[in-house]
Amino acid sequence: MPLNLRPMTQDDLGEVQRIQARITRQPVPQPWMDMLAEHIDKIYRLAFVAEEGGAVLGFILGEIKIGGFGTELSGWLELVGVEPDNMGSGVGASLVEALFGALRERGVQEIYTAVRWDSGDMLAFFKKLGFDQSAFINLRLKT
Ligand SMILES: CC(C)(COP(=O)(O)OP(=O)(O)OC[C@H]1O[C@@H](n2cnc3c(N)ncnc32)[C@H](O)[C@@H]1OP(=O)(O)O)[C@@H](O)C(=O)NCCC(=O)NCCS
Repeated sequence: MPLNLRPMTQDDLGEVQRIQARITRQPVPQPWMDMLAEHIDKIYRLAFVAEEGGAVLGFILGEIKIGGFGTELSGWLELVGVEPDNMGSGVGASLVEALFGALRERGVQEIYTAVRWDSGDMLAFFKKLGFDQSAFINLRLKT
């Protein structure tokens, strides 16, 4: 069955929550669900799901920043998750392409994401998709 990429709707929230719980092996906290819902039908936030035969197999969240971090217009890949039973079969790459296509349509020419330096798997995934080190460094202040 072909993989269908489409914008996330309110009706997908339960399935995305289930996938996130399977990935993290923990219950999904309510603030995470609130954050997720804040990506639906928004102008500067984007959310897509991949489905096959009516079953949601993965999701991706992104954001458009105007003037953020000294850039005029930039796209950000915030979160991508694939149902563990379906990892390694191209779902993640298809979700990234769907997000990038939507960002390009909005005139975005630079897309950023952030990965933990010791997360070799995620780094390998993003490098496969063409990401390279950016000119930014991340700063942190512990409160
Ligand atoms: C990372 C993740 C999104 C990748 O999705 P996926 O559907 O499994 O990946 P794909 O099958 O589309 O892989 C695309 C390419 O990345 C590579 N890749 C994917 N996962 C990889 C891994 N764990 N290690 C090394 N390379 C990997 C694949 O080899 C593939 O390259 P190929 O086209 O040459 O085969 C998915 O595994 C996932 O949801 N992981 C847990 C979620 C997570 O930690 N998210 C972090 C927040 S951003």
